[in-house]
Amino acid sequence: MVSRRLEPGKLVIASHNPGKVREIADLLKPHGMEVVSAGELGLPEPEETGTTFAENALIKARAGTKGSGLVALADDSGLCVDALEGAPGVYTADWAEARAHEGGPGRDWYMAMGKVEGKLAEQGPDTDRSAHFACTLALAWPDGHSEVFEGRVAGHLTWPPRGTLGFGYDPVFVPNGHSRTFAEIDPDKKHAISHRADAFAKLIAAVF
Ligand code: IMP
Repeated sequence: MVSRRLEPGKLVIASHNPGKVREIADLLKPHGMEVVSAGELGLPEPEETGTTFAENALIKARAGTKGSGLVALADDSGLCVDALEGAPGVYTADWAEARAHEGGPGRDWYMAMGKVEGKLAEQGPDTDRSAHFACTLALAWPDGHSEVFEGRVAGHLTWPPRGTLGFGYDPVFVPNGHSRTFAEIDPDKKHAISHRADAFAKLIAAVF
């Protein structure tokens, strides 16, 4: 199916995460897009009630276009572990949610990585440690049209965590063809091979 073209102009990034907004704005600038974020426009953050990355990305993109009248771009991402039937998946960030008595509220990535490792350990020493990061991008137009692009990077999980670069589950993820974790790989190199890069390459090829 042929994708709808994205005409140069103003686009809203349906995210309240300044790091994500900056990264996406840089990727879109060469294509004549002027970017504004949902945070800057004061748009409310919708509840992510979907059960797939695509559903959640579409919820965010549709809320962005509804609140701004502009074309909106949103992403949703996470870690999927084969032996855990794709978990934590869309609940990747939730697995890091620290409860009040654990020093939270807030996100504790070490705890989240430990939870994944604990569930793998329950399956014995020979369990399959394959995993992938997934990133889904959704574009929504004010007239109701939408486009979805899915990217991924495959690898395996290592333990204990290694490296101080990156964020989230990077210290336990070793991409295929590499021996270092995402948290030990130079960020520019990670950005070139990541699930987000894969999804963006597909979006750019389709809509520009
Ligand atoms: P969301 O897409 O903002 O909902 O984030 C999903 C969660 O997936 C993040 O909070 C991270 O923990 C995790 N995640 C997504 N991409 C990466 C990555 O490149 N490295 C490590 N963790 C990631």
